[in-house]
Amino acid sequence: MVKLVDAPHSKCGTFGYVGSSPTAPTLMNTYNRFNITFKKGKGCWLWDKNGKKYLDAVSGIATCSLGHSNGALRRNLSKQLNKIQHVSNLYQIEEQTKLSEWLTDNSCAEAAFFCNSGAEANEAAIKLIRKYGSKITNNESIILAAESSFHGRTFAALSATGQPKYHKGFEPLLSGFKFFKYNDFKSVKNIFEECEKSNQNIAGILIEPIQGEGGVIPGDKKFFHQLREICDQKNSLLIFDEVQSGVGRTGKLWGYENLGIEPDGFTLAKGLGGGHAIGALLVGKKANLFIPGDHASTFGGNPFACTAALTILNEIKRRNLLNNVLIRSTQIEEGLDMLAKEYSDIILGHRGIGLLQGIVLNKEITDAKKITISAFEKGLLVVPAGINVVRIVPPLIISKNEMNIVLKKLSLIFKGL
Ligand SMILES: Cc1ncc(COP(=O)(O)O)c(C=O)c1O
Repeated sequence: MVKLVDAPHSKCGTFGYVGSSPTAPTLMNTYNRFNITFKKGKGCWLWDKNGKKYLDAVSGIATCSLGHSNGALRRNLSKQLNKIQHVSNLYQIEEQTKLSEWLTDNSCAEAAFFCNSGAEANEAAIKLIRKYGSKITNNESIILAAESSFHGRTFAALSATGQPKYHKGFEPLLSGFKFFKYNDFKSVKNIFEECEKSNQNIAGILIEPIQGEGGVIPGDKKFFHQLREICDQKNSLLIFDEVQSGVGRTGKLWGYENLGIEPDGFTLAKGLGGGHAIGALLVGKKANLFIPGDHASTFGGNPFACTAALTILNEIKRRNLLNNVLIRSTQIEEGLDMLAKEYSDIILGHRGIGLLQGIVLNKEITDAKKITISAFEKGLLVVPAGINVVRIVPPLIISKNEMNIVLKKLSLIFKGL
């Protein structure tokens, strides 16, 4: 039986539930976990040790792009393990070059830096913005980020994260960040004006094209056009955090394609490795600034991780998965419309792009944790995005039938409330 507990060290409540036994005492207390161990995965499904089957609409939090135990990944990665697994970036790495070519051939970027996670990719982006600032002025450099954003748990990424609940207990954070309201250009303009008055230079903006963890909030087209314009006018970099939105999640390869503008650079992780650790910072001409010694990573871009990413990207193309994402997102949006009508007292609405969808709940009646637990009990995995948004981020391969099961299970949950 799953129950909600008061986790003694839980600050943010993203994963605030455990079953009848807590996390192993030999693990640091960084997660509240469900009391379950998955033993097997195939496609969009996971099995526990008793053989109970779960439909995975979390996919490692928007990570397992091709689902579990994908054949192409298994084949390519075992071949790679038999060939070469790791060499230092002191040498040429064929797989890394191929991956950088794939990414630059298929995006607005001209060069890539590889690391191991989303937070690391954003650390690289933040250093890059600082370096850009130091090249154009001696004034203090400021980086703008959005309220309710999420950029990761390392210190610079955390400092750029616009959610105070994640900062608590870790101050002082890195200085030089200012926050504006997401999708509100006036608040951006005000900060530019304030900074000009105090001789501070806005070196760049770091922003998600669709906020994920902050509550699944799609970027407004007009707002992003205005951001592009002001960054061009004021000579600031515009860098997108595509850690969650990138690699097909929104039905386009990159989230920025939904907005009709191009950033000066963007970061990737999550879906890029399909469950294997890889992150990337991609840059266009204006932001291609690092020189040897500026930044590095021991594991970043190793042959194994790059083979995983190349497999994911090639399979997305070969199987036309962007089209699947678009069709399945229409299906889920129509289904959620119906649920929102039927349970209008519980569901305030839904929002999202592609297979990054959020159901907005009426806090007076229920919350995202409770729905996540009910879903779990019914064999459906979903994940909260804040207190009252349930996030649905299944593998990009999800079928029509599987999406119907997601909707049916959600309907049963709301019916039972
Ligand atoms: C938009 C965004 N940026 C950065 C991160 C951090 O990525 P990682 O957990 O790989 O460090 C996340 C993780 O949820 C994210 O959603």
